[in-house]
Amino acid sequence: MSLWSAILPPLLRVYAAGVWALLVQLFSRHFALPEFPSQHGKVAVVTGGAKGMGYCTSRHLSRLGMHVIIASNNESEGQEAVRTIREETLNEKVEFIYCDLASMKSIRKFVYQFKAKHLQLHVLINNAGVMLVPKRKTVDGFEEHFGLNYLGHFLLTNLLLETLKESGRQDCDARVLTVSSATHYVAELQLHELQNSCYYSSHGAYAQSKLALVLFTYQLQHHLTATRCHVTANVVDPGVVNTELYKNLNWAGKVIKWMTAWFFFKTPEEGAATAIFAAASPELEGVGGCYLHNGKRTKSADISYDEDLQRKLWVMSCKMTGVHDVTSSSHEN
Ligand SMILES: NC(=O)c1ccc[n+]([C@@H]2O[C@H](COP(=O)([O-])OP(=O)(O)OC[C@H]3O[C@@H](n4cnc5c(N)ncnc54)[C@H](OP(=O)(O)O)[C@@H]3O)[C@@H](O)[C@H]2O)c1
Ligand SMILES: *[C@@H]1O[C@H](CO)[C@@H](O)[C@H](O)[C@H]1NC(C)=O
Repeated sequence: MSLWSAILPPLLRVYAAGVWALLVQLFSRHFALPEFPSQHGKVAVVTGGAKGMGYCTSRHLSRLGMHVIIASNNESEGQEAVRTIREETLNEKVEFIYCDLASMKSIRKFVYQFKAKHLQLHVLINNAGVMLVPKRKTVDGFEEHFGLNYLGHFLLTNLLLETLKESGRQDCDARVLTVSSATHYVAELQLHELQNSCYYSSHGAYAQSKLALVLFTYQLQHHLTATRCHVTANVVDPGVVNTELYKNLNWAGKVIKWMTAWFFFKTPEEGAATAIFAAASPELEGVGGCYLHNGKRTKSADISYDEDLQRKLWVMSCKMTGVHDVTSSSHEN
């Protein structure tokens, strides 16, 4: 990593990671989802569940019988997704609740509305994300990739943690699944620089938000293990997938993607497979702290296992979002 970063600027590193991920994809066996037992009676929240992989995930979980709540920031798109999923799966328990992950106020409002339903929560899928947006800030003043992709999900998960803990059972853990990306392998965490510096790389910022999500998941799993909660946390790497995530590429990037995507990229259904697997597979009962790719446990970047860094990021994120640090009240290390 240090050699990488010494030689290559963030843009080239992210493209190198992308090409590497594409090659791995090309030469690895296609991961086919097995049949799962009915998930009737379980409740799932899927962020960004109205389109792309989030939509495919919502639809599949709904087909398995789960009550699915789509949390997304486009009302018309969300309602349309609910309508088509209900039609296709004949499962009426699909809902949309507005949630703009770039606004802490909106996230808090979402959680308030969700809790007013007095439902349990068995699966939280932190899927929403943006990539390569120009330098701009969320309503709360954070760089957008970091603020939306990472801090938004950090806050959401913390606010829903009590409900998850109450819903998990022995032999039926509640599950938190967070969608990261192979770009995390080439990321650097430069928290202070990112928020303040005049140098900005959208590629570096995206990769950093995805590394932060891995560090967050591992720290969360330490906490869940230490407090013996019936909740697990895992990270999902979907591979390289043909979705609208690439809409902010420059024209040259768009041409290259257009030429290669149909053959090399996964479809949104294929991309969603690992998240669905992680949400519903009996194989993963009681298993947490894993980085999952193509339905299998894989090693994430070395730096993501740095426990000091995990702690530091967690404490800092608590300050940034104003949530109580749950890891400080129990005696953990
Ligand atoms: N595609 C890939 O190759 C790839 C590779 C690795 C990882 N991933 C990750 O996979 C996840 C899903 O992405 P995708 O590929 O399916 O792309 P996508 O089709 O663009 O989906 C992104 C989702 O995030 C939602 N979103 C964006 N801004 C939001 C906000 N402010 N509040 C709430 N929701 C918001 C979008 O909803 P709206 O349209 O309503 O804004 C959309 O549903 C992302 O986390 C991405 O980083 C993708
Ligand atoms: C919501 O999604 C629809 C359909 O994709 C799109 O036409 C519209 O511009 C989106 N609205 C906002 C506010 O992004």
